[in-house]
Amino acid sequence: MTKSQNQMWGGRFAAGPDAIMEAINASIGFDQRMAVQDIQGSRAHAAMLGAAGIISDSDSEAIGEGLLTVLSEIEAGNFPFRVDLEDIHMNVEQRLKEVIGAPAGRLHTGRSRNDQVATDFRLWVRDQTDGAIAGIEALMKAFLQQAKAGADWVMPGFTHLQTAQPVTWGHHMMAYVEMLARDKSRFEDARRRMNESPLGAAALAGTSFPIDREMTAAALGFDRPAANSLDAVSDRDFALEYLSCASICAMHLSRFAEELVIWSSAQFRFVTLSDRFSTGSSIMPQKKNPDAAELIRAKIGRIFGANVALMMVMKGLPLTYSKDMQEDKEQVFDAADNLMLALAAMNGMVADMTANQDSLKTAAASGFSTATDLADWLVRTLGMPFREAHHVTGSLVAVAEEQGCDLPDLTLEQMQSVHSKISSSVFDVLGVENSVASRLSYGGTAPEQVRRQIARWEAILS
Ligand code: ARG
Repeated sequence: MTKSQNQMWGGRFAAGPDAIMEAINASIGFDQRMAVQDIQGSRAHAAMLGAAGIISDSDSEAIGEGLLTVLSEIEAGNFPFRVDLEDIHMNVEQRLKEVIGAPAGRLHTGRSRNDQVATDFRLWVRDQTDGAIAGIEALMKAFLQQAKAGADWVMPGFTHLQTAQPVTWGHHMMAYVEMLARDKSRFEDARRRMNESPLGAAALAGTSFPIDREMTAAALGFDRPAANSLDAVSDRDFALEYLSCASICAMHLSRFAEELVIWSSAQFRFVTLSDRFSTGSSIMPQKKNPDAAELIRAKIGRIFGANVALMMVMKGLPLTYSKDMQEDKEQVFDAADNLMLALAAMNGMVADMTANQDSLKTAAASGFSTATDLADWLVRTLGMPFREAHHVTGSLVAVAEEQGCDLPDLTLEQMQSVHSKISSSVFDVLGVENSVASRLSYGGTAPEQVRRQIARWEAILS
């Protein structure tokens, strides 16, 4: 038994599609997420068709009104989505026909699903870009709050995850503000580039109807119509740029997630995560696990995956539209959902976490963290070349290691056994507080510098 022909394009077909064909072809299962954008686009198109005299004003108005009825059905959750109508575009148009009758048949004048889907998807990605920008800004504010609370708290700074030099908590938090600011500006930049309207490119070559592309572009908040119709229907750069911006941002989230996992461990105890953003173990009663951080770290892989997947979809496609491009949406939908979730979860964790000032300070003072300060003292006070000072300091570290103590615990005699000219003023630079306070160079870790950066960002973000 054969099914009846497709009502939208079945004119030349004697039979309907096989069930397997329908299953592989249909996108309504996921592209219904663009219903609002589809109706927005169609309303702009219908209004333009009326204004340009391509269809009558009464048809234009009936279509515009009818689309609002369809929208309310979708919003109310009682829209009858049909797989045999393939995608959101044909589902909406068919429903419009049921609601308003004959005028619905004029909506698709001078338009194709190719420019329609390119327009809908662009609008959807643009919304997500705005959402990401807002989410990043909120997270920047959470980091800024943490930085303000502990601008001068001392903690170890790491390279190779080995104690390197003491830094301030505020400085570390502000490093993420810088990263997120770049993420935000990347999204803003991508938004500017994506904000051109494909609508009116029609199937690929434009149309013989006297359409007004400036009008539909403006109605949809685009800066201008895309200048080449072939490019307009086949371009998915906007989605790829969204995914690349999302990937870099997600990478930053994942790095902080990793720090949280390390910092919240019993061995570090740098931070305590709030109960609201931790979980317990079903067998080990003492456990408080940083699951949200771990899940952020893991989910990020899906965003990178989406980026690569869409690159793969696009890389071999000749101009213009190919059905391969229907595979663009699920990747972006999934990436966007997970980016927004990761931003929100990170925001919650950062806002709620408590830094354990004492653990931070104890850790900052261990591991010979002020060895560089000692070397700098030798350069400054004794006029030693830095290379030599580095060597002398290395010998002092070896002595301290042998004694099982830290650098400030060495006696002056022990120091002088390595270099006779060392005087007691060296002890001034061995304390972690003095160490961080001395790093006043622009962008350095001194609380004074950090406070300056906090003030700068507060002004930008307010
Ligand atoms: N559902 C399709 C997509 O997502 C819409 C465009 C269909 N165009 C076509 N020529 N078959 O790409």
